Amino acid sequence: MRNSNSIIKTVVVAALLALTAAWAVPVARAAEGPQAPVTLRCEYLHNPVGIDVRQPRFAWVLHHTERGQMQSAYEVLVATTPELLAQNKGDAWDSGKTASDDSTQVVYNGKPLESNRSYWWKVRYWDKDGNVSNYSHPASFDVALLSPDDWKGQWIGGANQLRQEFTLAEAPRRARAYITGLGYYELRLNGKKVGMNYLDPGWTSWGKRVLYVTYDVTASLHSGSNAVGVMLGQGWFKSRIMLLQMDIELASGKHVSVTSGPSWKAMNGPIVSDSLYDGEVYDARLETHGWDLPGYKDDGWKPAESVKGPAGVLSAQMMPPIQDVDTMVPIALTNPRPGVYVYDLGQNFSGWAELYVNGPRGAQVQLRFSELLYDNGMINRENLRGAKARDIYILRGDGDEHYHPRFTYHGFRYVEVTGYPGAPSLDSLRGHVVHTAVKTTGSFVASNPLLNQIHKIIRWSDLTNMHSVPTDCDQRDERQGWMGDAQVSSEGVMLNFDMAAFYSNFLRDMRDDLGADGTMTDTIPFLTHGRRPADPAWGTAFPLICWYLFQQSGDRRLLEENYDGVKKYVGYLQSRAPDNVLRFSYYGDWVATEITPGAEVSDFYYYYDTVVLSKMAAALGNSADAETYTQRAGQIKDAFNKEFFNPTAMTYTTATQTANVLPLFLDMVPSDSRRQVANNLANNILYEHNTHLTTGLAGLRYLMPVLTQNGRSDLAYDLATQTTYPSWGYMLANGATTVWELWEKKVGPAMNSQNHHMMGSVDAWFYEALGGINVDPEHPGYRHIRIEPQVTRDLTSVSATVGSVRGNVTSSWSHEPGVITLQVDVPVNATASVSIPQDPEMTDIAIHEGDRSVWEKGHFVEGTPGVTAGKLDGKRVVFEVGSGMYNFRVTGE
Ligand code: BGC
Repeated sequence: MRNSNSIIKTVVVAALLALTAAWAVPVARAAEGPQAPVTLRCEYLHNPVGIDVRQPRFAWVLHHTERGQMQSAYEVLVATTPELLAQNKGDAWDSGKTASDDSTQVVYNGKPLESNRSYWWKVRYWDKDGNVSNYSHPASFDVALLSPDDWKGQWIGGANQLRQEFTLAEAPRRARAYITGLGYYELRLNGKKVGMNYLDPGWTSWGKRVLYVTYDVTASLHSGSNAVGVMLGQGWFKSRIMLLQMDIELASGKHVSVTSGPSWKAMNGPIVSDSLYDGEVYDARLETHGWDLPGYKDDGWKPAESVKGPAGVLSAQMMPPIQDVDTMVPIALTNPRPGVYVYDLGQNFSGWAELYVNGPRGAQVQLRFSELLYDNGMINRENLRGAKARDIYILRGDGDEHYHPRFTYHGFRYVEVTGYPGAPSLDSLRGHVVHTAVKTTGSFVASNPLLNQIHKIIRWSDLTNMHSVPTDCDQRDERQGWMGDAQVSSEGVMLNFDMAAFYSNFLRDMRDDLGADGTMTDTIPFLTHGRRPADPAWGTAFPLICWYLFQQSGDRRLLEENYDGVKKYVGYLQSRAPDNVLRFSYYGDWVATEITPGAEVSDFYYYYDTVVLSKMAAALGNSADAETYTQRAGQIKDAFNKEFFNPTAMTYTTATQTANVLPLFLDMVPSDSRRQVANNLANNILYEHNTHLTTGLAGLRYLMPVLTQNGRSDLAYDLATQTTYPSWGYMLANGATTVWELWEKKVGPAMNSQNHHMMGSVDAWFYEALGGINVDPEHPGYRHIRIEPQVTRDLTSVSATVGSVRGNVTSSWSHEPGVITLQVDVPVNATASVSIPQDPEMTDIAIHEGDRSVWEKGHFVEGTPGVTAGKLDGKRVVFEVGSGMYNFRVTGE
C-alpha cells in the first residue's frame, strides 16, 4: 500500500512540476485579481536536481488581471516533503508574509539545507491593494553535495569503459547519482544512458574547479541486481577518468551508496579514439554487448585503476547542459566523385551526424565535415586548420546499424560520406544540433526580411558557440572561450536566451583564472590559447559581463561575488597605466577593415572598466570606492582626450569609425566637441565609405548605439541593411547561414571561420533600438523599463519580446502614413517609461490608448488605467505606465 501510494504521489508531484516547468505559462486567468505565481526558479533553474548553494535564491513571475499592479508582499514555503507542502507547511522555511516587492533573488532563509536532499517550495503574493493570490504550483530543488566530506568515491580510470554491479535489497525510494568525468563521461544504468546530456561535464580550468552533474536515477534502479557502466572520452582533458557516487534511499528508509573505486572493472570498448578536433573512431565489432547490464561476464576485464583526481574543487554544474536540441534533415545529397557522397544539411551548426547503414562486418564508413564546398561539389576543409573533423564507423555487420559519436562535435553544414556500402540515400544521414541547451526567451521580427535573416544567422552563431562556455568558433582547431568575442555579443545573447545561470558560471570561471596579481586571461578556461595578461578588450569581459548580467537580472549576489575580483583586475590595469593611459594591446579592434590604434581601444576599456567598478561599488553601497573610482575615471577620461583627441580635426587618433565611436559611446568626448565628432563619424560612413562600416569586434558593438544616441538611427539602419561588402547582407548574399569571422569572403586555409558570434553583437541594437526594449540602468532587473523604439526609413513594423526576470516585456510597433501604433506589455511588479515614436511628417498629433485619449493638443490626458503620467521629452511624448498591456495609437495631420 505504502509503495503504491508513494508512487501515485510521485506521479502527481511530477506532473505538477512538469506544469510549472514550462516557460512562463500563465495560469488560467479566470479569477480576477492576483494570479498564482508561475515560472518558479531556484538559482535561475527550473526544479534543479543538483545545486550546492547553502542559501539559494528564488524567483517567480507574476500575473494580474489589472493594470498597474505590484507585489507588496510574498510568502515562500519550503518543505522537506511534497505532502507537507500540500498542507501549506514550510518545515524547512516559512518566510511568513514578507513585505517586499522582490520577486527575484529572494534568498532562502530557513533551516540549514542538507546535502543529498530534496526540497519542495511554493509561493503566493499580495498585490498592491493587499489582495492575496493562490499559492503557485509546487516546484522543487535538490541539494547536491555541499561539502567535500560528502564525497566517498574515488577517481578511477584505466580504460574507456568502467563497470560495476551491485545488489539492492529493496526498490529505491530516492536515488541520486553524482558524477563527473574528465574529459567526458556517459553514465549508463541497467543498459540505458542516464539523462539527456552530452559532452558533460562543462569545461573548466580543472586545476581550479571540476563540475559534477546530478541525476535523479530513482527510476533506473530496482530491487535485486543492478549494473552501472560509465564510458569515458578525453575531451579537453586528454585523459579519461571519473568519479561517481550514487546515494540511494531504499523503500525502508535505509541508505546505500555505490561509489567508484578499485573494485570496478575496466575494459576498452568500441571507441577506438576520440578527440574534440579530430572526431571519433568507433569500431562496432568491439562492442561489449550487455556490459552495462547485471549478469555480464566481465572475466576478461581488468580492475579499474585508482587515480589521483584533479586539484580543482568539485562544484555542482548549475547551468543548462549540452544536449542534442534538434535534428536536421539533409536538403540535398550529391555524388561528386565515384564513392564520394556529400550531404547538405542546409544550415551551418555545431553537433554531429547520425549515420544509418547496413553492410558487411568490418566495412568502414568515414564522415568528414565542412562548412564550405568547392565549386566541383567536394567539401572544402581548408579553414579547419589542424582539426581532422572526421568520424569513422566500422560496421558490426549484423543488419541495420546506426551511429553518432559521443565525445566530439563538429562545426559544419556539409558531410562527406565515403566507404558507404552501396549508395546512401537522403535518409542514411541526419544532422544533430548539439550545444548548451539554453531556452530561447526573446524574439525579434521586423518588416524588413533582411533584418530577420541577420537576426536568424546571429542566433545560430550565438547558440552553436555555446558549449558550456561561449566559444569563438565551433569548427577549427580552436573553439576557445575567447573573452573579447564573449563580451561583445553577451548583451544580445542575454536578450535572446535565458542566460543567467550560464553567465554566472562563466563569471565564476573567470574568478578561478584571475591571477593573484589581478591579471585576466584572453581565454576562459585558460589552458592552451591566448595570453596572461589579457588584451584589455578581452579581459574586460569580466567586469562587463558581470555588469550586463546585473542590469538584466538585478542580481546583487553576483556583484558581491565578483566585486573584489573586478577591483583587483582594475587595479592591475591601473598598474600598467602610470600616466592614466593604458596602452598595451595585442588584438585591439580585431578584424576591422580599417585600423584603429590598439592603445586607444585598450584605454577605452580601462575607462569603461573603471566606470563599471564605480557603479558596482555604488550598487553595493560602498560609497568610498564609488567615489574613488568615479574620480579615477575622470582622470582617465582627461588623459584619454589628451592622448588621443585631435581638437583641430575633431577626431580621435586615426579618425576611423572605431576611433570616434568608442569615446562617443561612453560620453568621453569634451561636450563642446561632441556634435562635431559625431558629425565626422557620420561623414566618414557616408562619404568616405559610401554607407559602409569599417569597424572590428570592439567598434562594431557601439557603432549603431552611438549613431542612434546622436539622432542617426536612419544611418545605423542603413548600415545594418547594407548588402555589399562589408555587411551582414553581404554574408547572406554569399550563402552565410551563420555569422562569419571576417567581413571578407574567404574560403582558403587562413583564419576565416564561417561561424563566429562576435560580429553578431548588433543583435542587441535590434532589440534595444528597433524593438525599443531597454533596461533602466537606475532600476536593474527590469524593475523599471525604458521602451523607446526607433521608427526609421522603410521599416513599417517591429515586434520584440524579451523574457525578463519579471516576465515577458513586449514592444511592438507599426507605422503607416499618418498612423503609428505601439503595443507594449509590461510585467507585474515592473513599471515603464514608454517613449512614443513620432513621424516627423506628422504634426498636431493625438495619442489614444485603446479608445481613450491620452495626449491631446500637446498635453497629457489623465484617467486611463495604468497610464500615470505623460510629458514631452524633446520631440517624443513619454508616458509612465504600470504593468499590463497597452495599445497606443498616434495620429496626426
Ligand atoms: C579567435 C578570435 C579571438 C582571437 C584573438 C582568434 O583565433 O577566433 O575570435 O578573439 O583569436 O585575437
